[in-house]
Amino acid sequence: MNRMLLCPPDYYGVRYSINPWMDPAQGVDHALAVRQWLALKSKLEELGCGVDVMLPQPEWPDLVFTANAALIQRQRCILSQFKHPERQGETRWYRQRLGRDGYEMTLLDGDFCFEGEGDALFCGERLYCGHGFRTEPAAVEALEKVLGIEVAGVRLVNPHFYHLDTCFCPLADGLALWYPDAFDRAGQERVRREIPHLMEVSVEEAGRFACNSIVLGRDLLMPEGCPEVSRLLTRCGYRVHPLPMSEFLKAGGACKCLVLILERRGG
Ligand code: ARG
Repeated sequence: MNRMLLCPPDYYGVRYSINPWMDPAQGVDHALAVRQWLALKSKLEELGCGVDVMLPQPEWPDLVFTANAALIQRQRCILSQFKHPERQGETRWYRQRLGRDGYEMTLLDGDFCFEGEGDALFCGERLYCGHGFRTEPAAVEALEKVLGIEVAGVRLVNPHFYHLDTCFCPLADGLALWYPDAFDRAGQERVRREIPHLMEVSVEEAGRFACNSIVLGRDLLMPEGCPEVSRLLTRCGYRVHPLPMSEFLKAGGACKCLVLILERRGG
């Protein structure tokens, strides 16, 4: 079955700015953020996904973005090493929670940043690791060592798409959504060479975080406002469930950033 870790938005807010979407002066509608988060959680449950919830912490407004906690592979938990001091204190809570759940804790060997599943996504058996803004290139090699597999590093160049999961979304059958302009030339070439079916997202829909979708088999939980890519996906046999995410977009996040994959159906 699929199982994800979520953190309720009790203390969520935009209190600092560490990416171009975040403007503390803009203000988050907190009640609306709570409703949007609950709707995401209900949709996951309705689609048969197991949902684990961790305790929110008052000092850490970005703790809701659990995708950045770690990369989980079976019983192994590779903890993040956050770039910004604004988020570094989150690690303690993620470690506590995932440790309690019995994961084997692994830290990558070296003094560099790695922001978990936000920058590390499996496309089939292949792990892609985005670097350039948060995760550093040294993480690619360190991941290879720990996981014993070859990892495909790709450089991100557009500050609005600072994590890999904001511009790249692997689906089944060698298909992936992506926003090519977010990658450098070599990264674009690599993705084009290795992934047989690529669905390019327009600049408008990329900006509404179309790539920040949660994939559950044939179902996709996608931020609303992405009709073009939804139409294409429907034609390929996927069901798209649009979700309002306005309040999380203000922090540079959406559906996918709000979950950490603990278990994947069939693996
Ligand atoms: N405000 C958070 C940050 O800038 C948003 C994190 C979004 N997470 C993600 N996996 N893309 O770190």
